[in-house]
Amino acid sequence: MGLPIVLWGLLFSLHTHAYSAATDKLFSGQALAGDERLVSSNGKFALGFFQTGSKSFNNTVHLYLGIWFNKIPKRTPVWTANGANPISNLVSPKLVIAGDGNLVIFAQDTIVWSALANITASNTVVVLSDIGNLVLRSSSNSSDIFWQSFDYPTDTLLPGAKLGQNKVTGVVRRIVSRKNSVDQAPGIYSNMLGLDGMMRLSWKLSTEYWNSGKWNGRFFDSLPFMTPSHIPGTTQTPDFVNHTLINNTQEIYFTDTLLDESTILHVLLSVSGQWKVRIWDTQRQDWLTPANEPENQCDVYAVCGAFTICSYNATPFCYCMQGFSIRSPEDWDLEDRTGGCIRNTPLDCRGSDRNGTYTTDKFYSMPFIKLQQNGKVADDSGDTLYLRLAAKEVQISKNKKNGIIIGVTISDNEFDRPTMIEVVQSLLGVFEPSMPPMPRLLHTVFSG
Ligand SMILES: *[C@@H]1O[C@H](CO)[C@@H](O)[C@H](O)[C@H]1NC(C)=O
Ligand SMILES: *[C@@H]1O[C@H](CO)[C@@H](O)[C@H](O)[C@H]1NC(C)=O
Ligand SMILES: *[C@@H]1O[C@H](CO)[C@@H](O)[C@H](O)[C@H]1NC(C)=O
Ligand SMILES: *[C@@H]1O[C@H](CO)[C@@H](O)[C@H](O)[C@H]1NC(C)=O
Ligand SMILES: *[C@@H]1O[C@H](CO)[C@@H](O)[C@H](O)[C@H]1NC(C)=O
Repeated sequence: MGLPIVLWGLLFSLHTHAYSAATDKLFSGQALAGDERLVSSNGKFALGFFQTGSKSFNNTVHLYLGIWFNKIPKRTPVWTANGANPISNLVSPKLVIAGDGNLVIFAQDTIVWSALANITASNTVVVLSDIGNLVLRSSSNSSDIFWQSFDYPTDTLLPGAKLGQNKVTGVVRRIVSRKNSVDQAPGIYSNMLGLDGMMRLSWKLSTEYWNSGKWNGRFFDSLPFMTPSHIPGTTQTPDFVNHTLINNTQEIYFTDTLLDESTILHVLLSVSGQWKVRIWDTQRQDWLTPANEPENQCDVYAVCGAFTICSYNATPFCYCMQGFSIRSPEDWDLEDRTGGCIRNTPLDCRGSDRNGTYTTDKFYSMPFIKLQQNGKVADDSGDTLYLRLAAKEVQISKNKKNGIIIGVTISDNEFDRPTMIEVVQSLLGVFEPSMPPMPRLLHTVFSG
């Protein structure tokens, strides 16, 4: 990689010019480390090193450089520099402006992250702006910008930032969900604005599961929250933001402008693939979420992984099919349930009549099931699925009645979008009622 070699001279200057009082700027020769922060001049945003959750991996805490809302007690990262490369707390990372004017995170004698900007000024400064944008610019000319965090968004769109694409360079700015509630690495869901002016949520950049509808000049057709009457208790109050879609020869993008700068609002693509508008409620000291898109969590493609059922009214909304257990309870607890579930007891794969022996496997019926196909859940009231299970798994479940099961996500290989044929194969037990052995086995299930 073309990372600049850090100058050894810099090492010594870091100690002599340690960064101290809260300011919005970091000049070359200064370092930001430990609990030190840059704070935007309006006090709204802070930048510094943080750790998420209290979980640790291999007894070391992992640190990220990020931006969050400075005035609220719930740490809410709105941008992370090194999401995919967390830093061990044992190495005491520092944010510095390197000898070539670039912005880098430096730990021991290595660069662990760099903005990789092309600097054409002799002196640079990094500034945390009042709208939460970290800007690396010339120290003598504030319009000469080399890099800004708004160009590299993570899971959050802040008012003032652009969601869109550059028609000339082809650069597309996507909002990408995080891997789980503590791991800031990019996850599998993303949002982008297409050249047709529609926002689209997709799974692994392939399967689209929601779009915003067309821009009508004031808001997107499928985004009801963009009108004030949809924010609870605010029918009489004005909007919080102005929405704008810009389409010119250079670029197409969507952006929000806060009407009152003090409003704490952001739009987030959650770990579970929902586009969420969140407003900080100062009285309750918590986030209000006036809108989630898609509205139903189960409409997010593959959100529960293989051999799971997604239900509107279960908590959490994913649970394992009968006879299966959560593949990774750790991920599951951190809100990443895409790993799905695994079979508790292997199937007894003897043929049903060869040799005169019969499989002991039975079929468990699951009523009111809908399947996801091509990113969409069917609209009908659902069907009954028959799941092939080892006999002992069926016996355990005899008395368990299913509630309303609304969406089911089944996939054999999590990297492939399952077709119906694959769904049938992966279940091994789903088959047509017209097949000869079915009635007898079903009878066993129901009377057994
Ligand atoms: C710097 O320039 C190189 C080569 O022109 C380009 O590939 C790269 O994207 C530029 N970096 C930034 C941050 O603009
Ligand atoms: C400041 O930078 C901008 C953008 O690069 C440039 O257009 C402008 O001429 C510069 N102003 C001065 C005084 O150098
Ligand atoms: C954006 O502008 C181009 C060129 O004027 C036009 O062809 C295209 O339809 C516009 N897109 C939207 C979403 O308005
Ligand atoms: C929001 O939009 C209205 C109507 O277009 C305009 O009058 C107002 O100045 C805008 N406010 C901001 C903060 O952009
Ligand atoms: C069929 O019977 C033979 C002899 O009893 C046995 O070795 C074999 O495992 C049986 N095959 C199956 C599929 O059950």
